[in-house]
Order: sequence, then C-alpha cells, then structure tokens
Amino acid sequence: MQRRTILKGLLATFFGSWAMRAARAEDTIKIGLILPMTGPSASTGRQISAAAKLYLAEHGAKVAGKSVELIIKDDTGVADITKRIAQELVVNEKVAVLAGFGLTPLALATASLTVQAKVPAVIMAAATSIIVDKSPFFVRTSSTLPQNTFPMAEWAAKHGIKTAVTLVTEYGPGFDAENTFVEFFVKAGGKVLDSLRAPLANPEFSAYLQKAKDLKPDALFLFVPSGQGAALMKQVGEREFDKAGIKIIATGDVTDDDQLNGMGDVALGLITSHYYSVAHESPENKAFVAAFEKANNGMRPNFMAVGGYDGIDLIFKAIEKVGDAADGTKLVEAMKGMAWISPRGPVSIDPQTRDIIQNVYIRKVEKKDGQLWNVELETIPGVKDPVHQSH
Ligand code: PHB
Repeated sequence: MQRRTILKGLLATFFGSWAMRAARAEDTIKIGLILPMTGPSASTGRQISAAAKLYLAEHGAKVAGKSVELIIKDDTGVADITKRIAQELVVNEKVAVLAGFGLTPLALATASLTVQAKVPAVIMAAATSIIVDKSPFFVRTSSTLPQNTFPMAEWAAKHGIKTAVTLVTEYGPGFDAENTFVEFFVKAGGKVLDSLRAPLANPEFSAYLQKAKDLKPDALFLFVPSGQGAALMKQVGEREFDKAGIKIIATGDVTDDDQLNGMGDVALGLITSHYYSVAHESPENKAFVAAFEKANNGMRPNFMAVGGYDGIDLIFKAIEKVGDAADGTKLVEAMKGMAWISPRGPVSIDPQTRDIIQNVYIRKVEKKDGQLWNVELETIPGVKDPVHQSH
C-alpha cells in the first residue's frame, strides 16, 4: 500500500515535470539570428547581436504572454553555412522566425528554405534590391542600395558635378549602386566616364583609384560593404583626390559609424547618402545611442545595429498583433504595413514589396568634440526602393 503510494507519487512527479517542461517549451518563442560573428564581416555580427540583445534587455524577453529565446549562430559570412544553420534552426530548434543575414549571398541562400518551411526571415543587413523577390517570407529592415544611391546621384548633378566615375564592390549591392548611380546621374544631365569594380574578397583598391584619378572626373562615387570603408578611405587619402579637384561622394556604407572615427581627416567633408547616422537628431535616436553605448563599453552603433534593433522590434510587434508565433504566413501578413518610429526616423514596411520605406539623408562628415560624425544636411522623406517602384 505504502509502496504503491510512493510509486504513484514518483510517477506523478515524473510526468508532472515532463508535462511542465513540454508546456514550457511551448511557451517559448525562438528567434534564430544568423550572423557573421567572425570573418571579414564580423563587425556586422557584433553590431546586430548587440542591438538585438539591447532590445530584449529593454523590452523584456516576453511577447504575447510567452518568453522569447534568441539563438545567435555564426555563419562566418559563408552562404553554405548560413543555409545549413537555417535548416538546423528550423528543423531542430523549431524557430518561429529567422533573422540576420549580413551579406546578400547569405540571404539568397536561405530563400527556398523559408518558402518550404513557411518561416519568416527578417533581413537586417543585406541590401541588394532583388532579395525580397526571392521569397514571400523575406521582410527587410535594412535598406536597398538603389534606395540609398539615387539621392546621391541627384544631389551630385544638382551641385555642379558634371562628370563622374563609379567604383563599387563586384557583387549584388555593388551592381545595384553602380546601376542606380549611372541611371539617375545621366537622367539629371551628368556623364559617367567609367564604372570600376573591385573584388569582394581581399580588396585592393589602389589600381582602381589611380585609374579613376587619371580620368579626371568632377567626382568619384564609391560603394563598399560595411567593414571595408576604412581600408578604402586610407587608400583614397594616399591618392590626394582633393588636390586634383576630384570630389569624393559615396553611400553611407563607406562612412560606416563603426569605423568612421578611425578614418582620420581624410574623411572630412565627404558627402554621402544613407538611412542612418549615429548623429541623427531625434529623441528616439538619442535614447538608442545612449543605451547601446552603455551596454557595449562605449561602442558606437552603426546602420547595421539599427537594422537589427528594428528587425527584432518588427518581430515582436507582429507576434503581438497575431497573438502567437505559430503561423509564419500570418506573421508576415502582420508585418506588412507596420509603421513605427525608428532611431533612424519614421519607417514602415511596404505591404507590396516587404521592403522598408524610410527617410534617406544627405550627410557630410564633420569633426565635433574631437570625433567624426555623419552630420545630416538634407532629408528625402519616405523613400521606397526605386527598382520595385519602376516595375
Ligand atoms: C550586402 O551584402 O547586401 C551588403 C553588405 C553590407 C553593406 C551593404 C550591403 O554595407
């Protein structure tokens, strides 16, 4: 009698704790964050993971009554690894949402999986326009290169620049930057003398910079992905374009806030167009920058951090709206048209394209209090990706 009671008690305890564990697993929503934490794009991983952790620390890791678990995985910037990790996260971890994607090829490698598994994937960094066409489960909180580039081309034509040379990195976002700059600069009456492309891996810019200088354009337009700006600007400085009367213009990827302070005076006066500057004047940005720096030993957030912060914010808002995270199709539907105030300014998700609609700013690098900043001069409000606009 007594033994039976004990046995019953033990069984009850066993099944009770098993049931509780199962219930607990169901109460947890997992977000799989795939980032290049090592390798040439490690700064992207460092920035986005720090921003995602900050969001959870600020808002609490709970949404729609369930706790949120962030699983951060390093793909080292290699597309095959991104794909394999994405599969593991979906099949083994049963993540509700995938996020991250530090480079265009890493996002593209995951497209078919998101379709098969019906799992939303929030693109926080990669910025080639075509990405969102590859899966209806892709939603983007970074930007597109065409979105950032056409304001620079129009600004140049309006400010006395009649001839230009373009120099970009030879892959998706570089082609987008080059095509967009040429299209809009020529439309505005400018002439492009040559379009040069440097390889993505182990970039060496000096031969291209010399060629650009020899062509004597009014301006040299530059794009390199986040993490390569400092190396590029060092070589730009050695070529003394200013003395040759050649103006340097670029997308904000080149004057990345993660590296800008280390570039030195060569960056001073550089005009760029982009969606985020750490110097953006708004209460939301001031609060974001202060909290980010406090949580990360004074590290400055860059545009990648903001793409990550907003990406987690969007995921939370969508789960809240739907009430749970079980149905990926419903989550994507909830993300469409979502609008909020980001540290970068007002943003929304274009319901047609799942790309982000945002302000693009014309900025100038200035020194203040001994530090370099992308100071915003002009705002082009509510910019959509122009490639999708023209379709
Ligand atoms: C990209 O690979 O899409 C990419 C990466 C870094 C950037 C911009 C675009 O700064």
